[in-house]
Amino acid sequence: MRRFIYTLVFSVIAVIPAVAQETRKLGNETDEQKKERLAWWTHDRFGMFIHWGLYALPARHEWVKHNERLTNEAYQKYFELFDPDLYNPKEWAKKAKNAGMKYAVITAKHHEGFCLFDSRYTDYKATNTPIGRDLIKEFVEAFRAEGLKVGFYYSLIDWHHPDFTIDGVHPQRTGNAADYAKLNEGKNWDIYRKYLHNQVRELLTNYGKIDIIWFDFSYPGENGKGHDDWDSKGLLAMARKLQPGIIVDDRLDLGEYEDGQDFISPEQYKVDKWPERYGKKFAWETCQTFSGSWGYHRDETSWKNTRQLLVLLIETVSKGGNLLLNVGPTARGDFDYRADNALAEIGKWMGHNSRAIYGCTEAPEEFKVPAGSILTYNEKTKRLYIHLLDYPLNNYTLPDYKGKVKYVQFLHDGSEIRFSEPGNNVQLSLPVHKPQYEIPVIEVILK
Ligand code: GLC
Repeated sequence: MRRFIYTLVFSVIAVIPAVAQETRKLGNETDEQKKERLAWWTHDRFGMFIHWGLYALPARHEWVKHNERLTNEAYQKYFELFDPDLYNPKEWAKKAKNAGMKYAVITAKHHEGFCLFDSRYTDYKATNTPIGRDLIKEFVEAFRAEGLKVGFYYSLIDWHHPDFTIDGVHPQRTGNAADYAKLNEGKNWDIYRKYLHNQVRELLTNYGKIDIIWFDFSYPGENGKGHDDWDSKGLLAMARKLQPGIIVDDRLDLGEYEDGQDFISPEQYKVDKWPERYGKKFAWETCQTFSGSWGYHRDETSWKNTRQLLVLLIETVSKGGNLLLNVGPTARGDFDYRADNALAEIGKWMGHNSRAIYGCTEAPEEFKVPAGSILTYNEKTKRLYIHLLDYPLNNYTLPDYKGKVKYVQFLHDGSEIRFSEPGNNVQLSLPVHKPQYEIPVIEVILK
């Protein structure tokens, strides 16, 4: 009897965590299939985010309409003057490619509601401004021609649409929850939801193969909006149906499902380790700006320097993630000189060091991180990359690496680095003179 009770108790205990940990799924894709579907993306690691819209004219943040509580009428002047005469997406694509970026995600519509594409469901679009062109079509063609993958950012939020209800983040918010019912009288949310679905369908139907869709964003709760408001499941199903293979971000508020997103998107901060979800290391991409604002911001001075940007990229890859680095083109339609400089500097480094980025990931735990460095690792080629943040003098120790190393060279010029194996370590003999790269990389060919 006692034995029976023990068995009962133990089997119940054994079952509880299993039930609690069971993750829910919307579809039936296996981990292996997902890995394959995301293979190009996890290999490529580095993409360009592009935030471009009417907010490029005020040039003081893409949230200017919210920040300054502007009405549609007050915002209308930007629509009437939108004429990016220098827009040449072929140039953009070349700059992205030279920087080593392999894909790009552009704001087809941001929170302001303005569409860069020729949507049949609205007049609030680029074709009705002085520029009079479908800017998304040109973008897609130009980037594809350079061999870059293309993605669309689409704002779930819309501060222009008359049926988008006023909530806690809307430009016409009052700060008093009790006001919203009155303010929203006469608005028909179903019309907006339908509009949103129609536009996503257009974007995923009219522009050929789309590699990524970036929905942004949900803020469930009181005076917020979440998956039921958008009908996120419907959106996700439509995206997967229209564009099999498409990669979808995590802002539809479907986190209760393991496949409610393909990756997580930590914004503007560095994770301290590879993020885990559903009990495993999960695909992730951090999106980051050069200077704080996503849209072109003329007066912002908080620009990251080349070194910070490179460290961001390297660190991201060292934790198994991707970096989506943002450019906010100007109202004239080209990149600001500071963005150009940053891209060119990154390109200089990538031109000779990208082997330590593409196809790379977190290094196996057995490899200790040598002093003042970051490690990345290519599983296929079994090469380890040591990114030297602080360039050492002559001797450089790889602790406990003895017996693991076949050959060592600088990555940028393929020049041999000689080594010895005192104690348990590998000791490299480096030239005193630091190579001409902000962060030199040592390539270790493992046994
Ligand atoms: C945020 C902001 C937005 C930006 C985005 C990028 O959610 O609302 O302006 O587009 O993040 O990740």
